[in-house]
Amino acid sequence: MIWLIGCKGMLGTEIARQFSENNIDYCGTDIDVDITDPQALAEFVKGKSISYIINCSAYTAVDKAESDAEFAKKLNEDGPRNIANLANQIHAKMIHISTDYVFDGTGKVPYTEDMPVAPIGVYGRTKAAGEAAVKHNLKEYFIIRTAWLYGWAGKNFVYTMIKAMNSHESVKVVNDQKGSPTFAGDLASIIIKIINKNNIPYGTYHCTDIGEITWWDFTNEIKKIGIGCGLITNNRCIVNSCTTDEYPTPAKRPAYSVLSKEKLQNALGYKLPDWRTSLKYFMCSSLFNMNMIKN
Ligand SMILES: NC(=O)c1ccc[n+]([C@@H]2O[C@H](COP(=O)([O-])OP(=O)(O)OC[C@H]3O[C@@H](n4cnc5c(N)ncnc54)[C@H](OP(=O)(O)O)[C@@H]3O)[C@@H](O)[C@H]2O)c1
Repeated sequence: MIWLIGCKGMLGTEIARQFSENNIDYCGTDIDVDITDPQALAEFVKGKSISYIINCSAYTAVDKAESDAEFAKKLNEDGPRNIANLANQIHAKMIHISTDYVFDGTGKVPYTEDMPVAPIGVYGRTKAAGEAAVKHNLKEYFIIRTAWLYGWAGKNFVYTMIKAMNSHESVKVVNDQKGSPTFAGDLASIIIKIINKNNIPYGTYHCTDIGEITWWDFTNEIKKIGIGCGLITNNRCIVNSCTTDEYPTPAKRPAYSVLSKEKLQNALGYKLPDWRTSLKYFMCSSLFNMNMIKN
């Protein structure tokens, strides 16, 4: 059986949905089994035969983490360490989700898995420490770094921008940070492929949708698709661009956070989807949550 931790978060909800759709045997926990409490984790596995543990739980509030470093560390470093220790004891494999924020973003070409980490904020630092804790305590692990994630469950950039464009005459979006948007459904199906294939070498992998764009580019495409499928009702809204300096946030963001997907694609023999195709699929699906864009 697969144990899905963080099953109520944005990614966890999507993985759970795809597990159910594909009749994959799993059990899901979230805040009810606290990853920072080793005893609670050990208690949960008693009497169960767990082959894989997928950890989607995390402290994901990037800006808040700057003033809440201790708690972020508990969730992003201590939690994964506890899970890896337990996986080692019960001989389960672990799939741990990490982030592009482990890099400083000063690169000019896509980051490969073997490049040194150099986080520039609390969130990235605690996630990098979480990766190290998993590696240190377990051999049979997959660390999957993703970026710019959006999915049907939970607040995300796509929902936020549609709502903003429908209620404002103009929006201002940064145009000097580059990355690859990633539909949670694509990442969930990759995780299922890794489990099903069962012969992928353990280690760290990068997984995002294909493409290299800015948040401003992303917003323009959201607008175009949104007008096409009726989600954007205010088609006069202007999408202005600005620089990171003009839009200060408590946490610094990597300027360039494109991840190389070669290693994962070669291991799976599979080409990841293009970000535009996935964004359209996400926005035009009946699973799109209209409540998230209500003003
Ligand atoms: N979102 C992105 O853009 C993005 C980008 C790159 C990488 N990632 C990584 O992708 C993974 C999934 O992200 P996500 O956006 O799906 O996260 P999310 O929506 O914030 O979900 C995390 C889940 O973990 C739960 N949780 C919090 N504390 C817990 C604890 N002590 N024990 C057990 N569960 C706990 C949360 O519950 P509460 O909501 O009740 O706190 C929530 O349901 C994370 O590892 C994240 O770092 C995300």
